[in-house]
Order: sequence, then C-alpha cells, then structure tokens
Amino acid sequence: MSYKNSLSYKSFINSKYSCIKHTNYFPIYDQLFKQYRGKNIIFVEIGIFSGGSLFMWRNFFGKKAKIIGIDLNPASKQFEKYGFQIFIGDQSKKSFWDSFFKKVGKVDIILDDGGHTNYQQIITTNKCIPMIKDKGKLVIEDVHTSFIKQNWYNPSKYSFINYSKKIIEDINTRFPGLKEFDYSLKKYVYKIDFYESIVSFEINRKLCKNNKFIDNKKKSISPKEYRNKLDEKSFFFQIKKYFNLKSNFTYPVFLLNVLKLKKYFK
Ligand SMILES: C[S@@+](CC[C@H](N)C(=O)[O-])C[C@H]1O[C@@H](n2cnc3c(N)ncnc32)[C@H](O)[C@@H]1O
Repeated sequence: MSYKNSLSYKSFINSKYSCIKHTNYFPIYDQLFKQYRGKNIIFVEIGIFSGGSLFMWRNFFGKKAKIIGIDLNPASKQFEKYGFQIFIGDQSKKSFWDSFFKKVGKVDIILDDGGHTNYQQIITTNKCIPMIKDKGKLVIEDVHTSFIKQNWYNPSKYSFINYSKKIIEDINTRFPGLKEFDYSLKKYVYKIDFYESIVSFEINRKLCKNNKFIDNKKKSISPKEYRNKLDEKSFFFQIKKYFNLKSNFTYPVFLLNVLKLKKYFK
C-alpha cells in the first residue's frame, strides 16, 4: 500500500500549518494509532515546531481526543488558541516531566518528535513509560539518530537503540531466575515494536506478570528428550563413541556454533 493511502497521510496533507514527517512513517502511524481514532484519549507530541503536526493529529484522532504539545520554544504557546494544550519545557529534564504529569495525570499516547539525542530519548522513555495508561503507547521516532555520527555522536554504547535493546533484556527478566535491572520498566512494558526509525513501547501492567512454569498434569507417554542428542554423523558423536564418553558435548557444540554464527553479526 502506498503511504498516500494511509489515514495519517491524509490528516497530514489536510493540516493547517507546515509539518515535516517521513514517508515511511505514515503506514506505521496507521498501524500503531488506528485503534484510538474517535476515542476519548490523551495524546501528547513532543516537538511542535510550526504546529502542523498538532492539526494533523486532531484530524487523525478526531474531536474527542485531547491533543497536548510540548516544546522548548515559548512561541509554541500560540497554538493554545486552537484548543491544543501546550507545555513549554525540556524533555531531557526529569523535573519537567514530574511537573507535567502532576498537572496532566496519566496519558494514553506519547509521541517523541523532539530533539532526538540519546539523552533526550532515554530520559523521556524512563520518565514517561510509568505515566502511560494500560493499552497506551510511547512511540519514539527518528531513532536512526542512534546510527548517525555528525551531531548525534553515534553509534555509541549509550545510544537510544542500545537502550531499547536493554529494555528487551529487561522484560525478559520476567522469566524466573534472570537478573533484574536498576531502572527497570518490566512492570509496564508488555510489548516493543521495532520499525525503521521508530520504536514503540506498549504498556500493559496487567499482562506484565512474572512468568511461571505450569504443568497440565495429564498422562505422559514418557517421550525421550532429543534436545541434546548429537547428530550421529557429527564429529563430536564420533569422539564420544570412540572414547565411550558420558558427556553430552553441549559446550563444545555451543563453541563451534559461535564460530559459525559470527558472520550473522557482521
Ligand atoms: C522535528 S521538530 C518537530 C516537528 C513537528 N512534530 C512536526 O511534525 O511538524 C522538533 C521540535 O522539537 C523541539 N525540541 C528540541 N529539543 C527539545 C527538548 N529538549 N525539549 C522539548 N522540545 C524540544 C524543537 O524546538 C522543535 O520545535
């Protein structure tokens, strides 16, 4: 489907003021936000610039949605006369977010189209996720800045993309026995969607339960476990047979596979 057929593109084209987005974003916006159209939601966009995206989101979500804009530029306040709620502040300041959520309460969706530095994106993620309602989303856009050297000083260990990979590890610590993180978001983040240039975190506290083993207690046919069975044609099987060894050779097989896998990480 061409991006021109998306609902968000139509909303963008019909906006009253200038708005700059990327063509690939429109089908993604439709996928991520379609379910909230016509609903009584609170939508927040960080980054107002010329105001065009405020009108785009009003067109897209409809009259029932409350549209809030955040920007560093005090001139952005002018858009309040059109019924938008505008906050002037810095997305990289924790104190800004504390006072913002104190006034606004929990919200449904936050879209970050602000300054796009690692620091801004990471502080925004850490401060905003706990204040998003269940079934809501935090969507960080322009995450390609994690790979750009000029002005963004990336790639870096501390890029936003590496931070979001850390959240993948974080939510996997809901599996028993895995080590927890400081600044964990695992009790909020149920799902992460990675697109080109966009990462979306879906919040659902009720579904973020620690995982537990469960047995249906039905009759077992006592099957043989084939998980660690060596291929009889393999080198390790021949060694095991020749020396009549008890070891199941999982570690040497793992090391050999690491060598074979290296090329997929280049
Ligand atoms: C890419 S523009 C936003 C474009 C707008 N969303 C649109 O689609 O037309 C980025 C905006 O983020 C604002 N900005 C940059 N750094 C910021 C920060 N630390 N906190 C809040 N806003 C910031 C800039 O003032 C600028 O207006």
